[in-house]
Amino acid sequence: MHEVADTPAWVPLAYLIAGALFILALRGLSSPESSRRGNRMGMIGMAIAVVTTLVMHDIASLPEIVIAIAIGAAIGFLTARRIAMTAMPQLVAAFHSLVGMAAVLVAAAAYLNPGAFGILGADGEILQVSRVEMGLGMAIGAITFSGSVIAFLKLNGNMSGKPIMLPGRHVINLGILAAILGLIAYFVTDQSGWVFWTVTALSFLIGFLLIIPIGGADMPVVVSMLNSYSGWAAAAMGFTLGNSAMIITGALVGSSGAILSYIMCRAMNRSFISVIAGGFGGDAIAGPGGPALDRPYKRGSAEDAAFLMKQAEQVIIVPGYGMAVAQAQHALREMGDLLEREGVSVKYAIHPVAGRMPGHMNVLLAEANVDYDKVFELEDINSEFARSDVAFVIGANDVTNPSAKTDKSSPIYGMPVLDVEKAKTVLFIKRSMGGAGYAGVENELFFRDNTMMLLADAKKMVEEIVKNMG
Ligand code: TAP
Repeated sequence: MHEVADTPAWVPLAYLIAGALFILALRGLSSPESSRRGNRMGMIGMAIAVVTTLVMHDIASLPEIVIAIAIGAAIGFLTARRIAMTAMPQLVAAFHSLVGMAAVLVAAAAYLNPGAFGILGADGEILQVSRVEMGLGMAIGAITFSGSVIAFLKLNGNMSGKPIMLPGRHVINLGILAAILGLIAYFVTDQSGWVFWTVTALSFLIGFLLIIPIGGADMPVVVSMLNSYSGWAAAAMGFTLGNSAMIITGALVGSSGAILSYIMCRAMNRSFISVIAGGFGGDAIAGPGGPALDRPYKRGSAEDAAFLMKQAEQVIIVPGYGMAVAQAQHALREMGDLLEREGVSVKYAIHPVAGRMPGHMNVLLAEANVDYDKVFELEDINSEFARSDVAFVIGANDVTNPSAKTDKSSPIYGMPVLDVEKAKTVLFIKRSMGGAGYAGVENELFFRDNTMMLLADAKKMVEEIVKNMG
């Protein structure tokens, strides 16, 4: 990393304080109780980092920075206002792509105008260490960009969620990765344009190739993996710009994203290495696809559901993506409160990949002020279904599908699921028998003897149930 020679001593200190606050922010975010405090720490840290950078502004002039911030803020503000809550995962993927593109542009600018970045050696050539930083920054940024664009298209439904498998993809991917690393090493001895731009082109290509084979239920890992890549891209930018706050922040995002990816992999029962290599779990032949509409199932009403739950000793609520779509969390909490007043024990079971982004269900339940101590993770509650009278599944599908435990041909085979079928009765809310979950596979649960389907919009159904409880 190049340091600007006349950097005042307080600058690294301010960045260090910002870095420490970011670490405290992450620590705070590790539990719902301390998350507000964590957010505040992060905001103070970011304010310190931004003000320090503005005061230093050694690369661009203040008006240039202000104009760039104004354009970015306007786009961010308009996008955030217009986006539906359910489209958040694709928005996150789109934002990751911007971080990747920023790293690409910074590396390209540094390559084209090294003097402005203070990275020229006495011989008039780019410093060798800067070539490594620049090469890695360009590669990570380009991979993040093209990978995030594909993730966006898949999550947004513009591209099929099904894995696209190229023959010999692992060999191709490894070959391209080896070529990128080899060329970056060669770049240290030869700063010719063809080396730099070939690294750029190959990196865009590998980002694309790594994400297209990943599909269906495996997308959660991709989202957190790209989050991690975007952190490393930002850290690489920090090296090129000589900004230690960016290096610290990027490294924190990169490593916390990597840890989250690892946790997601464990939750999905996938190996981390195979995720990085691209296209895992997809070798299984896809299951029977959409639901069979002609099989017999039991259909119930809000009245039936209210009756069954009022009689119960324990009800476990299992929220999923459909609860987010319907925004049913407030009505759900009202239902939970009513049941508790009737003396029923109410717990919430959250699968690590329920919804469309990590922590999706936790955020929605927190928004509806559901007590944290009633919310349980899969491994802490799975044994309780067998002892419960009712499992109330609201818009969750893949995460409750028992075939993940038995059907080797299913794309979700091996993913641990919530054992809802072990409850005495399963009440299952979805809009129609025709709609499948994200992975597009049929859910055996609908046709079990102890399942009662409540076919309606989740919010409307829960509101009806609440009315029938009165
Ligand atoms: P899904 O399996 O996607 O099922 C959603 C269910 O909600 C469907 O049965 C759908 O059926 C129903 N639904 C949709 N809108 C509804 C509404 N307004 N009212 C009532 N029901 C509604 O959800 P899940 O169980 O939460 O599983 C998550 C899936 O997404 C997993 O496959 C996971 O791998 C994947 N994924 C997760 C993430 C993260 S990080 N969590 C990221 C990307 C992908 P109808 O259409 O018939 O209503």
